[in-house]
Amino acid sequence: MSHNEPAVLFAEETIQQRVKELGRQVSADYSAVDELVLIGVLRGCYIFLADLSRCLTIPRRIDFMAVSSYEQKTTPGTLRLIMDTRTDIAGKHVLIIEDIVDTGRTLHYLLEMLGSRKPASLRTCTLLRKPDRLEKDVQIDYLGFDIPDLWVVGYGLDYADRFRALPYIGFLEEDC
Ligand code: IMP
Ligand code: MG
Repeated sequence: MSHNEPAVLFAEETIQQRVKELGRQVSADYSAVDELVLIGVLRGCYIFLADLSRCLTIPRRIDFMAVSSYEQKTTPGTLRLIMDTRTDIAGKHVLIIEDIVDTGRTLHYLLEMLGSRKPASLRTCTLLRKPDRLEKDVQIDYLGFDIPDLWVVGYGLDYADRFRALPYIGFLEEDC
């Protein structure tokens, strides 16, 4: 890969404005609940979750999960839970926070797992979605932006653990 900076897809201001809109929407939709549990999917969500959670005007609690996918040829896309939440979500209102929905496998897996724990409600929020890549029919309740089939980085998203701290969302122009 080259040492060039990723090309800009969404500028910092564009992201910040959209995150504020999502925050207003979530705050309005959950204005009647005692507490909303935001569950971030590590690691890509960390900046989005930090910004979104600070835009909310409702009582909320933050928790995290981590999932890893086995990249084995025999069982493509097999997912494994590597960190669970600390919160017992039974009876709680839960919103899963993702950086990006690509095939939808991760979100599908998390919806099944968290759904089985009997939350009062379970919804999903993702900053980005690649509609052309979707394999699983997953419901997305709050969406930042739909994007084309590109590898995007920045604002928490990485390529081989690089670029996470970029304030904008960019894409890598070379095929990597
Ligand atoms: P899915 O299970 O295929 O929907 O993929 C979900 C995960 O793959 C995301 O949470 C990201 O961690 C990663 N991912 C997919 N596409 C991209 C991308 O363009 N940039 C960075 N990470 C990505
Ligand atoms: Mg992710």
